[in-house]
This record gives sequence, structure tokens and C-alpha cells, in this order.
Amino acid sequence: GPVINPESLTNFHALPRCLIAVSPDGNIAWIEDDVIRSELEAALGQHGLLQGDYILTELKPGEFIMPGFIDTHIHACQVPNLGVYAWLCVFDELKIHLMLICLFRGGEDQLLDWLNNYTFPTEARFKDMGYATRVYPDIVNRVINSGTTTSCYYATLHLEATKILADVIHEKGQRAFVGKCNMDRNSPDYYVEPSAEESLESTEALIDYIQGLPRTPSGEALVHPIITPRFAISCTDKLLTELGDFAESVPDIPIQTHISENPKEIEETLELFPNASSYADVYDQFKLLRNNTILGHGVYLTDDELQLIVTRGAGVAHCPASNFNLSSGMAKVGKMLDYGVKVGLGTDVSGGNNPSMLYTIQMASTTSKMVAIQSTGEEEEGTFTNKRLDTATLLYLATLGGADVCCLKHRIGSFSTEKAFDALLVSVRDDTGNPAVWGYNQGRDPTEEPHSRYEDKDLKEWFQRFFYCGDDRNIRRVFVQGALIGGQEFQG
Ligand code: GUN
Ligand code: FE
Repeated sequence: GPVINPESLTNFHALPRCLIAVSPDGNIAWIEDDVIRSELEAALGQHGLLQGDYILTELKPGEFIMPGFIDTHIHACQVPNLGVYAWLCVFDELKIHLMLICLFRGGEDQLLDWLNNYTFPTEARFKDMGYATRVYPDIVNRVINSGTTTSCYYATLHLEATKILADVIHEKGQRAFVGKCNMDRNSPDYYVEPSAEESLESTEALIDYIQGLPRTPSGEALVHPIITPRFAISCTDKLLTELGDFAESVPDIPIQTHISENPKEIEETLELFPNASSYADVYDQFKLLRNNTILGHGVYLTDDELQLIVTRGAGVAHCPASNFNLSSGMAKVGKMLDYGVKVGLGTDVSGGNNPSMLYTIQMASTTSKMVAIQSTGEEEEGTFTNKRLDTATLLYLATLGGADVCCLKHRIGSFSTEKAFDALLVSVRDDTGNPAVWGYNQGRDPTEEPHSRYEDKDLKEWFQRFFYCGDDRNIRRVFVQGALIGGQEFQG
């Protein structure tokens, strides 16, 4: 059936009659771009497949396949905090702190106040493993059903609860990076690690635990550890030094952190690290800026910082919804791309108010338009700076760009031989129940033969309806490494 396949920052393919062969190990064996219905069996035969050798799934009109989304920045532990700013209970040893936080203050606080008032109390609840066991499965389900096949998850500072998160992801079959936050200062007394040593110890213990999880039948691990210093403000020099030394001994384990999200945060960071020439330089001085470092936000990165990031090969997780919610600002994604920085998208729940990557794509589109509207500079042909990001670019950021940021571009983000089949079966048919994509069935003959008549422009239209008006209801099936793990039609 119809397939959408991203190719580059400026191009994607819309293939109305594509045939993708997925091996039992979940990798793509081969792809034929254009096979008409009457020649299907011949095409399969040419690849040595006779009837009985394969299971054929043929899409209905209005359905198509595309690569799954890659969320390069999400705090799994903050999903319980989404859009809710009310009574929060924090259990701290035997004391119970009850914090009354004004109702409906959502959206007023900026980053540092928001962390202290809402986020840290929410995260502190994961000290209770019962709580983690109860909420993480629903959280991961929600993420999968919104079409995210790979997530870069931040958990809390708790080792045990983070192991539970890794177990849940592993069980559900999502591809992911999972890190426990390192934070040994500038955090409330009920939610801080007692020392740099203990922070490093539990990081190493989590890595061992995740690397010990069973592999997929192909021998590949789907859940990976990631080193997660929360941000420079919450880590002592000692902790960053130890994490940097440790990271050097495990060059293949990625690193994720926050950078240059909010003016006050930047000011405080530079005060805490007077020897650093910039925020990016803080991480660089501690050997934490490298090819597999994922930097969340980067709203205020300077030209020098962008250059340093490119030189080190690190990537940026652009989190547009969060950047609006916390009044952080608008990241200059076009400029990052022109510098050659790897960029992916992040929901940044619950700074971001929606775990859906589709919503994030729409916010990235809005951000780019606002940057373009405000721009007074000259636009240069063939560049991205100060321009609206178009559909091809947004699709790239949500798939291949994210894969590049995670250093998994050789495995995921698009369809090609030997890559993993991490995919979404999308429907824009009226029976999905999403009125926003309404219009597909209008005037069509319901008995018409699928795919014989469709042109790539039909498919591009379906895709755009989904991209800009779609939601979870349109995501019918979610596949990771060839296995069906979620979506509206999944009964798991
Ligand atoms: N900086 C440090 N921690 C956080 C967090 O949890 N969310 C966001 N958006 N920024 C941060
Ligand atoms: Fe974040």
C-alpha cells in the first residue's frame, strides 16, 4: 500500500503502491517502490517468495505506512503532571509535605520556579516503587499509542523506579533510551542525591541493569541506557567531573541534558561555572559534549556555541511546545540546521503539554513561522535560517533527524533495506472518529479497488491531513522491530 518515506531535510517520498518485506527478525528485507496489484505475486516470486512463505497486509484506501516518530526528549516521570497544577503530596521519609499550589497557575511560571513548584514534587513521588509500578505502564502505553516508536526518556533520580520504567518499556517492546537524573545540588531537600559518589554508583547500576535485559530475537537490544545529568545547575563540579570521566570509559553510551532554555537559567549557570565561556562550554569542559550527546532546548545558543556543538557532533532536541508553555522562547532551528547541527524534536513532557509528537510537529511549524515573521534579516536561497519549516523538513526532524541525534540513523527513521521496521499504520478514513481529517471519503466510490488509481499527490494530501490535523485516533497500528506493539487496533 501507500508509504511515506523521509529522505532528507528537503525531500520525502510518497509511494502509492509500495511493497515492504519485513523479515521475521523485524528488519526490512527489501522494498519495491511501485508494484501494481495484478503483478504482486510475480514481484514476490522474484524475491523467492511463494504463497505460504509470507503474510500479506494490504492497506485500505485512506491508509498509509510511515516511519514511527522519534521523541528525543521526554520526562516519563512528568506525565502525571501534564496540565495539572493543584494539590500535590510529597512523601519524604516519615514527614508528609502537603503543598498547596494555586489552582490554574499553569503556564505562568518559568523554568526554575516551575521545577521547584510543580516538577520536583511530582518526581519525588517515584521514591515509592508502588507508585512507579502503577503509573509507568500507562505512561508508556500513551507514548506508544501516540506513534512514538523511539523515546529518549528522562526518569527521576531514583534507581529502583527507573529500573521499573526500563522493565515496562522492555515488556511493551518500545525502542528507548532510559536515564536516571543525576542531581546533587540546587534541588529541594526531599528530592536530591546525597553525594556525587552515590549519584554515579546508581547510574552505573542502572546501566548494568538495562544492558542485562533480554535481547530481541535478532540479538539487538531495544532499550538502552543513557547518562542523564539533569542540567548543569543541579550538578556539582565533582559530579560532572566523575560523570565525564565515566562517560569517557563508555563512549557508546549516549548522554542527555538540558541547555540554554531560559535566560535566568543561563545566568545562574554561568555564575556557578565562572571558568566556562558559555553554557555549552560547561558541558564541554567536563567531557560531556560529544557525538552522542543530546541537548534539550538550546533556545539561546550563541554562534560560538553552535560552532562548538557542530565540532563535537552533538545534537539538539527541539522542544517547541515546552518552549512556549514555560515562556522560554523560540529556538532558531533553521539557524541550527544551517550550522550543520543535528536536530530532532522532543515533546519535553511536562514542560511540553502533550506527549504526542504530532502536536510537537505542529508546534515546531508554528515556532518556525513566528521566527520567520519576526525576522528582519535577509533570507538566503537554499538555507533554513529565519524561514518557515515545510512538511519535508518537519517530517525529517520527527524521524531521521531524531534518529541522527540518537546515533541510530543506520537503524531507524526511514525505510530501507536492513533498517528496522519501526512504523505507523495511519488512517485518514472517516471511521477513525477524528473529524479533523474528515474529507477523505467524500465522493469516493467505496467499492473502488485500493491503490490502483492513486497518485502520489493523493497520498501527499492524506499525509498532510494527518500531519497537521491528526491525532492518536489516526494511528491504527504501531510497529517496533516488526512487532505490533500499539495503536487503536492493538489489543495487547
Ligand atoms: N531543566 C532541568 N530540568 C528540566 C525539566 O525537567 N524540564 C525542562 N523543560 N527543563 C529542565
Ligand atoms: Fe526537559
